[in-house]
Amino acid sequence: MSQEQRFDLVIIGGGPGGYVAAIRAAQNGLKTVCIDKRGRLGGTCLNVGCIPSKALLESSHHYEEATHSFVDHGIDVGKVKLNLDTMLARKDEVVAGLTDGIEGLFKKYGVEYVVGTGRIVDPETVEVETAGGKSTLKTDTILIATGSEVATIPNVDIDEERIISSTGALTLPKVPKSMIVIGGGYIGLELGSVWRRLGAEVTVVEFLDRIMPGMDVEISRRAKVIFEKQGITFRLGTKVTGAKVHKSKVTLTIEPAAGGTAENLDTEVVLVSVGRRPYTEGLGLEKVGIETERGFIPVDRHFQTKVPGIFAVGDVIPGPMLAHKAEHEGVVVADYLAGEPGHVNYDTVPGVIYTWPEIASIGKTEEQLKAAGTAYKVGKFPFSANSRARSIGEKDGLVKILADKDSDRVLGVHIMGPDAGTMIHEALAAMELGATAHEIAEMCHAHPTLNEAVKEAALAVAKRTINM
Ligand code: FAD
Ligand code: NAI
Repeated sequence: MSQEQRFDLVIIGGGPGGYVAAIRAAQNGLKTVCIDKRGRLGGTCLNVGCIPSKALLESSHHYEEATHSFVDHGIDVGKVKLNLDTMLARKDEVVAGLTDGIEGLFKKYGVEYVVGTGRIVDPETVEVETAGGKSTLKTDTILIATGSEVATIPNVDIDEERIISSTGALTLPKVPKSMIVIGGGYIGLELGSVWRRLGAEVTVVEFLDRIMPGMDVEISRRAKVIFEKQGITFRLGTKVTGAKVHKSKVTLTIEPAAGGTAENLDTEVVLVSVGRRPYTEGLGLEKVGIETERGFIPVDRHFQTKVPGIFAVGDVIPGPMLAHKAEHEGVVVADYLAGEPGHVNYDTVPGVIYTWPEIASIGKTEEQLKAAGTAYKVGKFPFSANSRARSIGEKDGLVKILADKDSDRVLGVHIMGPDAGTMIHEALAAMELGATAHEIAEMCHAHPTLNEAVKEAALAVAKRTINM
């Protein structure tokens, strides 16, 4: 790259927010460059997030099926042996294939890619520090998509060996005998499940009196019972006040969240999964007058910061820290810059926890509707009454639909069950189109499918289920 070049758009960060925006901007005819310091495109999601965790969830699920449920299907595989090295290598291969794929897409669409650290000098200038030295990019617009980093807690220092973050939990070289997971949210439950399936004794210590904050409370309570049956132990309403690393164990000090007597818990490995925080280190925000709020960059409805010409998307701005939300925002910004309309409907951003069963949610929870004083109806249908779920031997879970009491419009859908993350998209389409529960119930669903449980839950809203 020459010392100074001019672009229409400089994007800092090549994760789901940044790389997707880059491709769409290039498709829209904008001369676009994407800078990422990681050395591999795809950001947190592809490198140390969504994809490696889902690869391990899949492999560990196969392992669990081979060790526990194949026998129910009349398949005797004898003694099953875990080859963790192969499992981890497969995960790395999946990641490499996808990150290389983005580089290919950049070439295809003519996005310039620079490996380096970007710093905003002024609204028209970004300085990039690369292995080969510094260069300056001139631009009409800048998009910040620098994502997030692991949140930490006092007195629990992550070393990525004994006290690990999600990143360390994707590369543990052996299955620990025991693992204490601090935080019962997305990462704690997904990666806790991976290592539990592979043989670790997993205890989740959660500050709140429930797991999965933000999800519908009924689903969260039922999920906890299922995870307990699978062997995970929960310590709810409990806070961690310190951690001491010894030669062969880590001692965690915990106490009731409301205060009380402290207690020590010994474990081989501690996974810290208490959330993520926006990442803006070294970006030069203060120089251009952008102030963060609780670390997040405030933006308007076009994702523009208070400085004209500087935009931001993804984990670095307020909202759920999810890859598809970042991607959607990236597309909307790239279209906006090309003069095209677009918006993100935050009421219909689905959330999926990829445990087994999966837990998927869209729209309002029952608690949110109560708090808002919205009159609603509920329809529920358990997978134990769904013929496909019974055929595949996965009877745990349910579909729960919340609809407006008067208009019958669907306000929220919560699914816990096999492949709930795929099924939730029926609810997404329905809600985006403003459908009523009756309209879902009227649609002819294929038989036998798991989605018939969605139809039955919609029928249940009007107390007209057929199979229950
Ligand atoms: P990021 O993906 O964090 O990308 C930001 C990029 O910017 C990084 O590559 C970083 O190196 C780069 N960068 C930062 N500063 C600079 C700079 N100054 N110069 C150059 N480059 C810079 N979400 C889901 O929707 N589904 C999932 O299944 C899921 N699983 C997850 C599992 C784990 C273990 C974790 C940790 C997260 C998971 N997430 C999941 C969340 C998801 O990864 C994030 O929401 C998503 O990656 C956010 O995208 P982003 O583009 O905003 O930021
Ligand atoms: P999280 O916000 O999902 O869960 C953190 C949990 O830790 C909460 O239950 C919280 O109450 C608890 N907690 C906070 N401080 C605590 C403390 N001191 N002691 C005990 N518990 C404490 O955060 P997590 O799991 O770290 O994941 C970060 C983010 O990454 C998620 O919020 C999500 O946005 C994203 N993610 C998404 C995934 C998906 O879409 N499937 C998978 C993994 C991560």
